[in-house]
Amino acid sequence: MASEERRAERAEIEYKAYEDEHDLPVVMDLVASELSEPYSIFTYRYFIASWPGLCWMAYSRGKCVGAIVCKLDDHRGVFRGYIAMLVVAKTHRKYGIGTELVRRSLKVMREAGADECVLEAEECNRGALALYQHLGFIRDKYLVRYYLNGVNAFRLKLLLPQEVVDKHRAALPDEAKKRIEKAATDYEARLQKDEAAAADKEAETEAAVASETAANLE
Ligand SMILES: CC(C)(COP(=O)(O)OP(=O)(O)OC[C@H]1O[C@@H](n2cnc3c(N)ncnc32)[C@H](O)[C@@H]1OP(=O)(O)O)[C@@H](O)C(=O)NCCC(=O)NCCS
Repeated sequence: MASEERRAERAEIEYKAYEDEHDLPVVMDLVASELSEPYSIFTYRYFIASWPGLCWMAYSRGKCVGAIVCKLDDHRGVFRGYIAMLVVAKTHRKYGIGTELVRRSLKVMREAGADECVLEAEECNRGALALYQHLGFIRDKYLVRYYLNGVNAFRLKLLLPQEVVDKHRAALPDEAKKRIEKAATDYEARLQKDEAAAADKEAETEAAVASETAANLE
């Protein structure tokens, strides 16, 4: 395609938030044609039905050429965004579409009070690793044989600055604020309970060993 036409087409890209079930097959077809990992309809429904505001599509001349699917929920007391799928059609790569789709999802996550956002990417996926690195994501974990095809992966993470989290949380409705705070305190309580149970168990074992030793010495 001539560079002028590419430029014109690039300028015409439109971004659209997921609206309803009519969008589902469009997203599924694009993801299936561009990603190596197969997903069932249940996986799509799980993400999109629960977090429709975190699914965005990019359109070029009436055709869907990019999509992102994410979620946002409690993870061990942290309010964590997760990018499950990001795809751009081969014909439209390097137009900035992938970056824009991630930016839009991150904005929704930030405004909902997220602490962080994570995703996994194959260790050989140079394009995705570079895209996320430009957006400030770091390599948080190395995941051996993470994908069904046996390929290793990186977990990438973007930590949102505390002042950004505080600012957006303060603007949330009370109910949402309380839900996030409760998840964090519940997790803290669960940790303390587990620690107390582990300490009891250790004390029990020590007492049993001491009494056995004493019996053997008699
Ligand atoms: C990864 C993917 C989503 C990138 O989409 P895109 O719209 O082409 O990305 P962008 O145009 O926003 O690129 C942003 C930056 O990422 C980097 N990048 C993107 N593709 C790259 C590639 N193939 N090689 C190296 N760097 C690349 C570049 O630094 C680019 O900035 P630049 O164009 O200014 O140099 C797209 O290649 C894709 O759909 N791949 C297959 C599915 C996939 O791997 N999804 C990610 C799963 S974690």
